[in-house]
Amino acid sequence: MKLKLYLVTGNKHKYEEAKRIFNDTDIDLLMAPLGKFEIQSDDLKAIAWKAALHAYKILRTPIVVDDSGIFIDALNGFPGVYSSYVFRTLGNNGILKLMTGIKNRRACFKTSLAVIVPPLDTIIEDEVCGEIAEKPVGTLGFGFDPIFIPEGEKRTFAQMDIDEKNRYSHRARAFRRLVKWLRDNFML
Ligand code: IMP
Repeated sequence: MKLKLYLVTGNKHKYEEAKRIFNDTDIDLLMAPLGKFEIQSDDLKAIAWKAALHAYKILRTPIVVDDSGIFIDALNGFPGVYSSYVFRTLGNNGILKLMTGIKNRRACFKTSLAVIVPPLDTIIEDEVCGEIAEKPVGTLGFGFDPIFIPEGEKRTFAQMDIDEKNRYSHRARAFRRLVKWLRDNFML
C-alpha cells in the first residue's frame, strides 16, 4: 500500500518539483491547496511547524508543509522569512535594485519542511547557496528563480527544467531527506 502524503500548498510549482522526488517510491505525494496559515516569526522552522499543525487539525491525514526563503548575505539575510511578502511587493527587480553596486552577491535558498505522519513528526531543513544574478534571466520556474544562480552553474534556476533545478535546489535536497526519513521510519 502506498502512503498518501499531502503537500499543503497553493503553489503548483512547489508541488511539481517535490512530486518528482517521490517517483519510484511507495509514497504518493498529493497537493492540498489549503490557504496557508502564516505566523510572524524570524524562523522558517517555526512558521512551517505552525502551518503544519493548523493544516493537520483540518485534514487529519499525513502532511508536509514547505516554507522557503532566500537569504542574501550582503543584505544581512534579507528577505529571508519575509521572502513571500518581498516577492509580492518588490519583486525580482526590487531585489536587484537593492543589490546595485554590491560586489558580494552570495545568497542561499533555505527550505524547512514540517512533517506530520502519525505517530511521528519531524522538521527537515536544507539549503542551496549561490549568487544573485546581475539581471533576471530565464522563464521557467517561479519566484526568485530568474535571479538565482546556484554554485557550480552559470545559469539561473529559471533557465533549468524541473529535473535540472532539482539537482541543486533547497527543496529537492530537503525532500530527498524526507523520503529517507519516511523509508527509515515507516519501512516504505
Ligand atoms: P513560501 O515558502 O511559499 O513562503 O515562499 C517564500 C517566497 O520565496 C515566495 O515568494 C516564493 O516565490 C519564493 N520561493 C520559495 N521557493 C522558491 C524557489 O524554489 N525558487 C524561487 N523562489 C522561491
